[in-house]
Order: sequence, then structure tokens, then C-alpha cells
Amino acid sequence: MSSWHKTLLISALSLALATTTVYAAPSPGEALAKAAGIPWPAVIAHRGASFDAPESTRASYLLARELGADYLEMDLQRTRDGQLIALHDTNLKRTTDIGQKFPERKDQPVSQFTLAELRTLDAGSWFNQAYPQRARASYAGLKILTLDEIIDIAEQTPQHRPGLYIETKAPQLFPGIEKDLHAKLQQRGWITANGDVASGHHLILQTFERNSLTLLDQYMHKVPKILLLWVGEGGMEPASDKAFDATTGQTKAAYYAQQQPKDHAEFERWIDFAKANGAAGTGPSAALTQGGDQSYMDLVQPWMNKLTHDKGLLVHVYTVDDPVDYKKVMEAGADGIFTNRASELLKFYKRPATRSVAEILKEQGY
Ligand code: G3P
Ligand code: CA
Repeated sequence: MSSWHKTLLISALSLALATTTVYAAPSPGEALAKAAGIPWPAVIAHRGASFDAPESTRASYLLARELGADYLEMDLQRTRDGQLIALHDTNLKRTTDIGQKFPERKDQPVSQFTLAELRTLDAGSWFNQAYPQRARASYAGLKILTLDEIIDIAEQTPQHRPGLYIETKAPQLFPGIEKDLHAKLQQRGWITANGDVASGHHLILQTFERNSLTLLDQYMHKVPKILLLWVGEGGMEPASDKAFDATTGQTKAAYYAQQQPKDHAEFERWIDFAKANGAAGTGPSAALTQGGDQSYMDLVQPWMNKLTHDKGLLVHVYTVDDPVDYKKVMEAGADGIFTNRASELLKFYKRPATRSVAEILKEQGY
């Protein structure tokens, strides 16, 4: 072979390596996912495609569905009149105009409002103000959605039906919500009478709260469940109990990045709890390269993922939007990613959407 041909061959091999999926295969998680009927690696659209549209709204979930995300992620809460809805924060101040519509009640939790009252709120305009470069006039006036409406969005597609990935958010505020969720999913035909996930449906339940995991397992034993991981209040015991001090100039992300479980045994205790209470996997946080307000503790270190896999559990890491971090967490052994940018993650996984975000939004009337 001539040196010119050798150079050409080396260049071609380098290009092939650079464009091949970068994480190691086969992953032990891949077999676990397959056995549980869970896509691998999973694209979990965090509050929908919430980088490009207001989180947890029709625009966000339609976009995630049309991009081809595996799951629509949502945070489940309950109204005063017992309706199951999707909202992340436990109050309405950040993502609605509650301050204008109900100024005297603006600090009240979601559970104090009826669905009819929540329907009067604008859950889209805050996005236009926060992200003017991604603003769209059609986002103004978007509504808070019920679980029923998100199920409708998942179902009403002739092409790709996404799964649902439902978190019981602050479940201590909503006694009995696990039972309500089971009733709704059964009523909508996502869970059969004998407790299986209905054929052709993908469904995962998630929670940070150990009590809620136990209850979810009680009512929905055969549905895959994920225990979300955290260090500190409500989560694993930290190695250091030093509190965050904004006066030092340290960012919250830098503080979180230093937080670690007390020791290996503490981490293992949580994995064992998850396993013993019916979880199919865990949802660890990630420390992000660029920091930011979704950058938390690095609970996706290779030894942690190996331990989790060795115990037969999957790893779905939250919440990652940057290809640098996609690569990092996948190389560390993750089996799926919660992302606000389903379009980017699909590209990274070499499953790019067939239409752009702008094309889909236009097509869907936004
Ligand atoms: O549910 C996974 C991830 O969403 C957890 O964080 O606060 O966005 O619900 P959060
Ligand atoms: Ca969530």
C-alpha cells in the first residue's frame, strides 16, 4: 500500500471513529433496558421540548412528540378539586401570571387552586420574557395541562407514539396521588386490569421520595419505576454538611458539584432501597460542564453506574442539554438522559428528527 493510500485509510478510519456513537458498547444497561421494554438509550423530553417552548405546555409536548422523543416527562400534581395536572414548581409564580390574576393568592401552592382557576392562567408568556431569542407570539396564553391532555397528545399521532415518564412531584402534599395516578392510567387504558403496561405503550414512573416509590410499587408493581437521586435534604446523607453560602460568591452549581454522598455505603443503601422497592432504575443528577441552574451533584460517576448496573438497575440521568455532557454521561455508563433539548439528544444518539424544531412548531400552529 502506498503512503498516500495509508494516509487516506487512516483519515477514513479517524472519520468513522469520530462519527461513531462515542459511548462504550455493549452496555450492561442495554440488556436490562431490553428486558424491561425500555428504549435504550432513552430520550426523555424533560417537561417536553422545554428549551424551545414553554415547559409542560401543549407546544412543548407536541414538539417533543414530533421530534421523536421516547418519553414525555412530566411532574404530577393535583388541584383542589382532584384533577391531575403537570407542573414542576409547587407554586405558580415562575411560570404563570398568577401575580396578576390572583395577586392575593400568588404564594399559595397549586393544591389550593381548582382546575378552572388554573385554566385562567397564562403559562406561556413568562417563556417569551425569559428567552426572547426563542419567543413566539403564539406561546402567550398557553395553558397548564391535565394528565388527560398529555395522554391525548401522546396518543393522537399516526406516527410515533411517545411514552410517558411521570414524576410524583412533592407527593407529601398530595396524599393518595399514587392511587389516583393508577386509576387514571387504568381508565385511559395505559395499564391493563391485571396491572401490566398495555401493549404498545411505554410508561415509567419516577419520584425522589422513597415513600412514594413504595406506594407506586404497591399500586403499580408491574410498571417500571425510577428512584431519583439527590444528596442532601430528602436524599442521601452528604459527605459535608456545609450549607450553601451565596455571600462567598460561589455559584449554586459549584456548591452542588462538591456535594457527594457520605460514602460508598450510603450510595449503595439508596440503590438497595430502590431495588427492594420495585425500581427498574435510578435517576441520578449530573454536574454540567457549563454549570447553570440544572447543574447538581455528580451522581453519574462510572463506579456509581457500575454498582447500579451490577444490582440490575438502569441509570437515567437528569437534566443534560449539551453534547459535551451527553458524551460524558454516556461514556460513564448512563442508559438514557432527561433533556430539555430532545432535538440535540436525538442527533447525538444518531436518530435525528426528520424535521427541524422551527418546521415542527410552524406545522403545529406555533
Ligand atoms: O424528573 C427528573 C428531573 O426532572 C428531576 O428534576 O426538578 O426537573 O423535576 P426536576
Ligand atoms: Ca421531573
